[in-house]
Amino acid sequence: MTASVSAPPAAFPRVRLRRLRRAPWLRRLVAEHRLSCEDLIWPVFVGEGQGRCEPIATMPDVERLSCDVLVERAAEAAALGIPAIALFPSVPAALKTPDAAEALNPDNLVCRTVRAIRAAVPDLGVICDVALDPFNSEGHDGLVRDGIVANDETVAVLCQQAVVQAAAGCSAIAPSDMMDGRIGAIRDALDAAGFADVAIVSYAAKYASAFYGPFRDAVGSGTLLGGSLLGDKKTYQMDPANGDEALREAALDLAEGADMLIIKPGLPYLDVLSRVKAAFGVPTFAYHVSGEYAMLKAAAQNGWLDGERVLLETLLAFKRAGADAILTYAAVEAARLLARR
Ligand code: PBG
Repeated sequence: MTASVSAPPAAFPRVRLRRLRRAPWLRRLVAEHRLSCEDLIWPVFVGEGQGRCEPIATMPDVERLSCDVLVERAAEAAALGIPAIALFPSVPAALKTPDAAEALNPDNLVCRTVRAIRAAVPDLGVICDVALDPFNSEGHDGLVRDGIVANDETVAVLCQQAVVQAAAGCSAIAPSDMMDGRIGAIRDALDAAGFADVAIVSYAAKYASAFYGPFRDAVGSGTLLGGSLLGDKKTYQMDPANGDEALREAALDLAEGADMLIIKPGLPYLDVLSRVKAAFGVPTFAYHVSGEYAMLKAAAQNGWLDGERVLLETLLAFKRAGADAILTYAAVEAARLLARR
């Protein structure tokens, strides 16, 4: 047996942790985590038309952009060093049907936008959401059958949606629908269609959250959902009471072939993010969702919080909890702030 030499217990007054907080240069040297523009994914809303920037009342500084304007903004985001955008369509009500058929139209708003961005800003990652809510007249992520969201039938449609979006040129597919078994089915469908290189970033743990309210205003799914037989998404999105279940969700998605994981919402679920990252060690992203963004902006607009500092502190907190990247509506703002430092 070798004698073990243990360090004497470190204690005050020899140890003074404040010593390393005394000056900016020291704090910079010992900082454990750092936020950079490389950590940011910018979720954007695209709508029909030309030259349009429509404000979203519940999301200050966020606009629904027509494709031509979005292409310009995407180029600016790329120039700021933002690696990727996540695309969400705001589809005209007339195109929303119970079968969400428009989701499979290779010339729909999403596909046209993907092609335009890929052509103009080829180095920017374009992540497409897979879920039926933008196209479904009931505002649900899946097909509603006799008052329930039908799992397997929905998965079959999601596979086609993923292939259509991959064919349009998106770099990664992000299933946000929370159907069981969809990751494996989508992986198989992408591979069979020749898109083995298109990555899957799975919303592994997506909670049935009231923090999605402003997003639903932005894409117009909120009022539809309110009027549907099932007024919420609690039969497929996770119960906010559950943490262990998020690990099961993540394990299943990884076993089915997910390349990266998303935990959503963000700040109220840092414990989940931290556990998932620690358990699996795979690229794990946090989604700083619309309601979190709205709270921050509302307080800043009222002068109740220093908006810029709170934003950067929030994003850094995601990094500390284990996020490899953060989806945030404030990505461009944050990238500009970081460039100034
Ligand atoms: C739906 C979807 C939602 C968000 C992203 N994709 C909302 C929902 O589940 O109703 C929310 C994002 C946010 O609030 O920022 N597929």
